[in-house]
Amino acid sequence: MSNRLAEKVCIITGTSGSIGRAAAVAFAREGASVVGCGYAVDDAGAIATAEAVRAAGGNMVSLQPCDLSKPIDCQALVDLAVQTFGRIDVLFNNAAMAHFNWLEDISDEEWDRNRREEVDLVFFLTRAAWPHLKTSRGVVVNMASLNASMSFKTLPSLAHTTAKAGIIAMTRQLAMEGRIHGIRANSISPGVIETNQTREQLKDPEWASYMLGKTLLGRLGRPEEVANVALFLASEESAYVTGVDIIVDGGMKVW
Ligand SMILES: NC(=O)c1ccc[n+]([C@@H]2O[C@H](COP(=O)([O-])OP(=O)(O)OC[C@H]3O[C@@H](n4cnc5c(N)ncnc54)[C@H](O)[C@@H]3O)[C@@H](O)[C@H]2O)c1
Repeated sequence: MSNRLAEKVCIITGTSGSIGRAAAVAFAREGASVVGCGYAVDDAGAIATAEAVRAAGGNMVSLQPCDLSKPIDCQALVDLAVQTFGRIDVLFNNAAMAHFNWLEDISDEEWDRNRREEVDLVFFLTRAAWPHLKTSRGVVVNMASLNASMSFKTLPSLAHTTAKAGIIAMTRQLAMEGRIHGIRANSISPGVIETNQTREQLKDPEWASYMLGKTLLGRLGRPEEVANVALFLASEESAYVTGVDIIVDGGMKVW
């Protein structure tokens, strides 16, 4: 298949990261004009993603610095998309930064920071893009996590699980509010995906045997395997899908 996103303008956040980069490459390959962003002014990863997409013949611009926990930066990203490509059809809220700690160790500041960097950034950017999504009868894809609906004894994820459960709830509400404008909204809940972070954690034998032992397919997921689901949700192939969370976990939730 090709051109599944022909003439679509897609904002993808966190394009310096593993899943964001895979999504930028996949969306551009399917004909999308992609707008990415990097957290820091010299975000080499975000710049490299945009260069790789363009080198492959795709269309992509990227905004650095862009701290999505600040409403003003979210507005700047939306403005860049509209000024460069004239519209916004898809918003893939992929970026997030989780802060892990057990209940008895988490500070007020850490709790607040996790909310800002996992929940507020989705709200701020969606609110800024909403008028353009109404015009285009567009699509929102939000990144949740399997951890929103399951607890793992190896993960001190009180703030993270709370935040990602909030993303699933926010997505359902967006689907309800968006229906009258022809806007669809869905979320994705990945299990354990092979990224720099998880590769590091896998060096811990207790973590590795527990998490991999819970995965039916017996391996980590790849960023491309999450990006493919985002691509489906962004495209017209999912025209009758809204208000749901799709789990991409290699069968972790089964046992
Ligand atoms: N890797 C996994 O196993 C896994 C599992 C479940 C959910 N997820 C979710 O998938 C998404 C992508 O994660 P990843 O594994 O690719 O991680 P990653 O760390 O490689 O990418 C995260 C990206 O988000 C960006 N980001 C974070 N906070 C930001 C902010 N305030 N402003 C701008 N950019 C910001 C980072 O710069 C980075 O580019 C996240 O929402 C994460 O919670 C990942």
